[in-house]
Amino acid sequence: MNERSTNDFILPPIGFGMWDSFAQIVKDSGGQRLPPDPVRDASQLSELQQAIALGYRHFDTAEMYAAGHSETILGRGLIGHRRNDFIIATKVNAENLAHDNLLAACDRSLERLQTDYIDLYLIHWPNPEIPLAESFDALNHLVQVGKIRHIGVSNFNVPLLEQAVALSETPLATNQVYYSLLSRRPQQDGTLEFCRKNDIVLTAYAPLRGGVLTLDATVEIAGRLKATPAQVALNWLVRQPGVVTIPHSGNEQRQRENLEAVSLELTEADIRRLDSPGN
Ligand SMILES: NC(=O)c1ccc[n+]([C@@H]2O[C@H](COP(=O)([O-])OP(=O)(O)OC[C@H]3O[C@@H](n4cnc5c(N)ncnc54)[C@H](OP(=O)(O)O)[C@@H]3O)[C@@H](O)[C@H]2O)c1
Repeated sequence: MNERSTNDFILPPIGFGMWDSFAQIVKDSGGQRLPPDPVRDASQLSELQQAIALGYRHFDTAEMYAAGHSETILGRGLIGHRRNDFIIATKVNAENLAHDNLLAACDRSLERLQTDYIDLYLIHWPNPEIPLAESFDALNHLVQVGKIRHIGVSNFNVPLLEQAVALSETPLATNQVYYSLLSRRPQQDGTLEFCRKNDIVLTAYAPLRGGVLTLDATVEIAGRLKATPAQVALNWLVRQPGVVTIPHSGNEQRQRENLEAVSLELTEADIRRLDSPGN
């Protein structure tokens, strides 16, 4: 399965999402956030180390995930590894999109990640209260000073993408959106087509959520190919030109299974069945 590239930037077909267990903030009975639990941190670090050992290279986090603690875990997990071997993707919160707030948010992320550059920095959600031009001024500056290598967006529709492409001084690397067998909006509203035409990688988030694993099509095709429903669902995504995905699993066997989904050989009939929205 080909890697997806935007100019010189290459994203592997399957990356590792760091929301989910990494992002659950533990609160006390009064709703106050408790400090990070060392036992929990150790188990998350070990999940991450498993993923690194299996060959994951693209890690997707956000300042929002566990209020920054997901970034902290990723930073710790990459200690002792060659930084250039990994793609760190993180996201700025919608409330931090004003120029100076965005610069400050990026510095905090760099600190938590224990690195001096972020490979891919995304606007997590659009914010109609803040002009996109202001955010892009800050993002373009961050590229110029080398704190981020590539700019991306998330949850952007076509009109917003058009603005983003015009405002970005460097090619927009990705639009990260909810896309799966059960969430086909990017196909229906033109987002996928726009991304392809403009050489923007579409990163499909939450590829396994919402009953994807129990669809008749995924279960039956997986049974015939001696694969798993998750592999069918992931392969359907990454066989599409310009699409990569970032499933999360805390379990070593499922992490491996997800990575290996790229080599599944679906038949033309399987693909037609999966392509049909009523599969
Ligand atoms: N930009 C955004 O707004 C946005 C929104 C949501 C998510 N994201 C990103 O997308 C990533 C992925 O989304 P997600 O974590 O919400 O959902 P997901 O990756 O689609 O699904 C994760 C769930 O699927 C299970 N799972 C994983 N592999 C499996 C397999 N092979 N077989 C059976 N179950 C499997 C996991 O459980 P186990 O751990 O027990 O395996 C977990 O419960 C996130 O981590 C985050 O980085 C971005």
